Amino acid sequence: VKGVLVGTLSIGVVGKGGVGKTTVSGLIARAYAARGAEVVAVDTDSNPNLGLSLGMSVAEVDAVPVLPRSLMVGSDASTTAEALVAEYGRPTPAGPVLVSALRVAEAGAGCTCGGHATVRGLLAEALDRVDVTVVDMEAGIEHLSRAGGTLAYADVLLVVCEPTRKAVVTARRTAELAAELGIAHVLGLGNKTRGEDDEGFLRTALPAAGVPVVAVLPWLPDVTEADRAAGTTLLSVPPAVEAVLTEALGAIEERVAAPTGLRAGR
Ligand SMILES: Nc1ncnc2c1ncn2[C@@H]1O[C@H](COP(=O)(O)OP(=O)(O)O)[C@@H](O)[C@H]1O
Ligand SMILES: [Mg+2]
Repeated sequence: VKGVLVGTLSIGVVGKGGVGKTTVSGLIARAYAARGAEVVAVDTDSNPNLGLSLGMSVAEVDAVPVLPRSLMVGSDASTTAEALVAEYGRPTPAGPVLVSALRVAEAGAGCTCGGHATVRGLLAEALDRVDVTVVDMEAGIEHLSRAGGTLAYADVLLVVCEPTRKAVVTARRTAELAAELGIAHVLGLGNKTRGEDDEGFLRTALPAAGVPVVAVLPWLPDVTEADRAAGTTLLSVPPAVEAVLTEALGAIEERVAAPTGLRAGR
C-alpha cells in the first residue's frame, strides 16, 4: 500500500465469541481499502454477517454466492485463488471485495470442514492483484486444528479481546496453537474497553499471555446503534476510531516487517 505495505498481507481475525471479530474485520478491511489497497474480506462464519459490516444490505449479503467446499486450490489443482475471488467475490459499498466461505443455507447440510479447506487453499496462494486479505473467523479455536488449520497460511493472527479473563484465556490458547501451526505473528487487538482500568487490564494481561497488543478500541455506542439499525454498519468511521485503526495497521506492519519470504517458509 503506497509506502505503507510492501508485498501482500493476510490477516486472520480470531477470538472468543462476541468479542467483536466481525466488527473489527470490517473496520480493518475498510481501513486498508481507504488507504488505496485492494482488499479481499473472507467471511468464514456459518451465519455470515461481515457483509453487513461492509455496508451491504441483508438481501445483498444473502445473494453473495458461497465458495464451493473442499476445492483444491493452487498451481496443480482445479482452480486458482485468483479465479475463485473473481467468480465468487462481490464488491461492497465500503470497498473490499467480499468472499463468503461457509454460509449454511439449509438445516442438516453437514459439517463445514470442506469450506475451511477451501479457505486454507485460498490463503496458501498469494493473490497477485490483492494487497490485503482479511479473514473473519468463526468463534473459537477449532479452526486452528481442523484440517491442518484454516489459517495455517495466514501471515498474522489478530486476536480480538474484550476486557474479560475468559477472552484473555482464549487469546493465550490461540497463541499456543498458532505457534504449533507455524504462524509467525499473533497480535492482540483490545475491544470494548470502558475506561482506563479495562484498557490497562488488556495491556497487561495480553502480553503476559504471549500476545502483544497493537491497539485498543474502546466501547463505541455508535457501533451498537448501527448494529440495531437496518443496514447495520458505521456509515462513517469516527476520527477516534480512525486513529486507533491507523495505530493498529502501523503496529501490524511493523511486526510483519519482512512480508516477502513469509510465505516461502511454509
Ligand atoms: N467497540 C465496540 N463497541 C460497542 N459494541 C461493539 C464493539 N465491537 C463490537 N460490538 C458489538 O458486539 C457485538 C458482537 O460483535 P461482533 O463483531 O459480531 O463479534 P464476533 O464476530 O466476535 O461474534 C455486536 O453487537 C457488535 O455491535
Ligand atoms: Mg462474527
